[in-house]
Amino acid sequence: MNQKALFIIFGGTGDLAYRKLYPALFNLYEKGYLKEDFAVIGTARRPWSNDHYHEVVMSAIEDAGRDSGRTNDDLPRKFANHFYYQSHNVDDVDHYVALRKLADELDEKYQLEGNRIFYLAMAPRFFGTIAGHLKDQQLLTDGDGFNRLIIEKPFGRDYPSAKELNDSISGSFKEEQIFRIDHYLGKEPIQSIAGLRFGNALFNSLWSKEHIDNIQITLAESLGVEERAGYYETAGAMRDMVQNHIMQIVSLLTMERPDVFDPSHLREKKIEAVENIQMYSKEEVDQNFVRGQYGEDEFKTQLAYRDEEGTDDNSQIETFVAGKLITHNPSLDGVPIYIRTGKRLTKKSTQVNIVFKNNDKNIFSDNPDEKLETNVLTMHIEPDQGFTLEFNTKTGNQGYKLSPVHLRYRKTAAEKARIPDAYEGLIRDALAGDKTNFAHWHEVAQAWKIMDVVRNTWDAETPDFPNYVSGSMGPQAADDLLTRDGREWVFNP
Ligand code: BG6
Repeated sequence: MNQKALFIIFGGTGDLAYRKLYPALFNLYEKGYLKEDFAVIGTARRPWSNDHYHEVVMSAIEDAGRDSGRTNDDLPRKFANHFYYQSHNVDDVDHYVALRKLADELDEKYQLEGNRIFYLAMAPRFFGTIAGHLKDQQLLTDGDGFNRLIIEKPFGRDYPSAKELNDSISGSFKEEQIFRIDHYLGKEPIQSIAGLRFGNALFNSLWSKEHIDNIQITLAESLGVEERAGYYETAGAMRDMVQNHIMQIVSLLTMERPDVFDPSHLREKKIEAVENIQMYSKEEVDQNFVRGQYGEDEFKTQLAYRDEEGTDDNSQIETFVAGKLITHNPSLDGVPIYIRTGKRLTKKSTQVNIVFKNNDKNIFSDNPDEKLETNVLTMHIEPDQGFTLEFNTKTGNQGYKLSPVHLRYRKTAAEKARIPDAYEGLIRDALAGDKTNFAHWHEVAQAWKIMDVVRNTWDAETPDFPNYVSGSMGPQAADDLLTRDGREWVFNP
């Protein structure tokens, strides 16, 4: 459905706008979600002309590989003509007055009926200031139109700072108007977790503590910190990946079944799921969490984290985290969830493994204690997308022997190419007012509280870094975490 709206992008000259937002908006325009009744105001401090802004927008589309195979070659220019640039200092009240004037003019010109989306593609320290001025200078419309705020992580660096940040925007925007982007929620394989669980009697009936032995979540990256050392030195893997992306996946995997699949029922179940993750004591953190930092690779061709440009020679920032979480959600009460993420690991792979229980007596062997292979369902999220189901079947002609086989489904390259980019889907959802794939404040808050206990424990101790070789799957202690429980990582490249 076509939706009219005025987008006001703060950080219009930035990297996120260039790489993600302009191409995503263009895709929505090309597909007809945005027709001619939309406009975009890009703001930033630099003095740009509208003409220059149009060139930038068109080159963003081209760089995103969206300039070929199109029948209508004028489309990028027609699209860019909807863009207006306004030089803006976020602290200057007069600039909001000018912005409001332009916004009202564009509202009139494009007949936008007061629908506004404010996209803060900037550092969170500006969120409160911007939100306050938007309200005070009456940029929020008060008719039938909507006012929505889209913000990007990091939503704080611990619970107190996240709360402060949230309080600073909640004076101007209500929770239902705030769209917190977690780009993992924009990925189709993540969105399909609910469908897999609740749309299949097979999995729905097995998704319980009686049948699931453990859940494993791996977000492995092969790249190092690249050019982001400045940010990463203040964040680390826990804040960068665990508090947000991993905790969102945990809640989708462990939530109870909602009565109806709609944003409010889903949100309620997801909040409950994070609230039911066991809070650890300091001692439990030591037993259940492992941190790591990469050193050089085996052949010394890649730099250790501490030798990368922009990092401290003595940096204590973790580039790897593994941990064991325990859910107390009724259906899965007590089931361990092993999580793992890190930079410079063996290969890029995001996957979830559901390891089923294996308690049946083995009637196929003379020795009933001889374990059969465990059944494992793997959800491949990236770069592969699809599923693998591992189960036992009779093989060979000598007696009745069972061996595991893999039932595999993978999306083809052509199918993957048809899936919209995460940002395209998320902006389309925000336009439609659909909050299914956005993080609620209560989820964010609770995830921070769980992480803070780990962080505070770690910050009181000096880690022995570096403790893993680039190209490996992290420190030995991450494997020991499972071995100790008589288990092992399913993904072990
Ligand atoms: C981001 C992190 O949120 O996610 C990055 O800040 C990380 O450090 C990235 O590389 C991974 O996302 P994806 O989509 O490539 O798995």
